[in-house]
Amino acid sequence: MGKLALVAVTILGGATLAFAAGDNKNAEKKAQAVIMKRCTSCHSAERINAAFKAGRDMNAIEHEMEKKGAKLSDKEKSTLDFYWNKAPVLKK
Ligand code: HEC
Repeated sequence: MGKLALVAVTILGGATLAFAAGDNKNAEKKAQAVIMKRCTSCHSAERINAAFKAGRDMNAIEHEMEKKGAKLSDKEKSTLDFYWNKAPVLKK
């Protein structure tokens, strides 16, 4: 691994950390906004929250929903991916 690759890894790692620290508390709010906008035309948000709370593989479900016709921009996808993977599980 060259010096350049090392620098790239360092920068990426730093950006991820900054993102996690700055956006964690807003992650749920933002994700719920995306869900309301993109996911509730076919079924309720409760169905989604229930699957998330049950510990289902939300990334896989998200991909399946895209195949069914859910439309997500790259930004919306990263908002959801961040939420599924990093946000504390929804309070019951
Ligand atoms: C085009 C319609 C449509 C959109 C938009 C849509 N879904 Fe779905 N979703 C479905 C259908 C149909 C099912 C039922 C599939 C089944 O029961 O086999 C489903 C089921 C689900 C389930 C339950 C899966 C399970 O196995 O219990 C979850 C969770 C879910 N959707 C999440 C989402 C999320 C997150 C989004 C937004 C990114 C979304 N859906 C957008 C059509 C849609």
